[in-house]
Amino acid sequence: MTRAIILSGGWGTRLRPLTCTIPKTLIPVLNTPVIEREILMLKRAGVEEIILAVSVMSKELKNYFKNGEEWGVKIDYTNEQSPMGTAGALKLAEPLLKDDNFFMLNGDVILNFDFKEMLNTHEKYGGIGTIASRLVDNPARYGVLIINEETQTIEKFLEKEKYTSIGDNKDKMPVNAGVYVLEPEIFSFIVPKKKISIEKDTFHKVAQTGKLYHYSISGIWKDIGKPHELLNGNILLMKDILKKSESNKENLIKDSADIHPSVKINPPVCIGENVIINEDSIIGPDLVIGNDVYIEEKCEIKESLIYQESYFSQNSKIERAIISDNCHIRKDVILKGNGENLVILASHVIVDNHIQLISSSTDSITVCHHEKVKNNITN
Ligand code: GTP
Repeated sequence: MTRAIILSGGWGTRLRPLTCTIPKTLIPVLNTPVIEREILMLKRAGVEEIILAVSVMSKELKNYFKNGEEWGVKIDYTNEQSPMGTAGALKLAEPLLKDDNFFMLNGDVILNFDFKEMLNTHEKYGGIGTIASRLVDNPARYGVLIINEETQTIEKFLEKEKYTSIGDNKDKMPVNAGVYVLEPEIFSFIVPKKKISIEKDTFHKVAQTGKLYHYSISGIWKDIGKPHELLNGNILLMKDILKKSESNKENLIKDSADIHPSVKINPPVCIGENVIINEDSIIGPDLVIGNDVYIEEKCEIKESLIYQESYFSQNSKIERAIISDNCHIRKDVILKGNGENLVILASHVIVDNHIQLISSSTDSITVCHHEKVKNNITN
């Protein structure tokens, strides 16, 4: 039987302050946690047993997935006291994975491809591991895989810095997509009880044996490492789902949403369960609204992610923002990000009447959970 391990114990520092109250892999993507999407995809590929390598905020993950029954899979958890790195976390699961090959996934990627085909390809190659590779436009951000086109083996990993220094880095290049099929032999490459990175330490050693292969994936792939990537990933996935839908829908809106007829919707938008939107509001494009969100009259909200149970008083204007759960945006507020610099509110934030948070070009504006914003911020 094929098993899988999903890494879900990192700090998620780049997504703070969102990750102060929500573990990174439980961050919603189109209103479903990113890791839950992976679990459902693995299940569709026939995987019945999944190990979650948890560490930071493990309680929240265990409470959410329990034994996996609700998702029709068996879920076990590793016991990692503090983050041991991606290979250290894998090593802890050795007793559960030592009998057969298995999938390993980063728990923070949005993707959509055929896991079964990847497993078949891995078995055909007969190596120790196969890494899913993805061609990207800006490879310097990830580090590049140097591939032997004849054998399909990975010869080298070029770190970000080295790649940048070899000049023209504008071409599409293959990068590690954070999905692997591995044989139990991989465990002999990992020293126990040490903090080790599989990407930086272990794979280099396996590549030297000539038994590390790549499997090229296409279609949607995005890690949600940084806030603007999280926003873009949601929009990309929404567009991908709409493009593939047979009903030519322009938006993903739940039937339980109560939207006043005067509301103007600019597609694409994704609207969750029990959302109420009042008169004369303008909604979208590129907007995701979570369950149980209430929007009063004359609000204008676009290019943003709104998590569940937030409340928007009248005349709020929101653009390029991520607003976590249970926030209250009071009357006449303006929240405006700029390009990659977003306005980010963690859970349970209150923004007072008439406040303006406007990000120019230098940095994102972030507000920690349970804070009340009483003064304007412009940076
Ligand atoms: P940043 O702190 O923002 O870099 O995020 P991160 O901690 O999630 O690190 P990264 O994006 O490199 O992690 C990729 C995947 O591996 C994510 O799903 C993490 O949850 C997971 N991960 C990273 N480090 C560890 C670790 O030490 N232990 C476990 N169990 N998982 C980890």
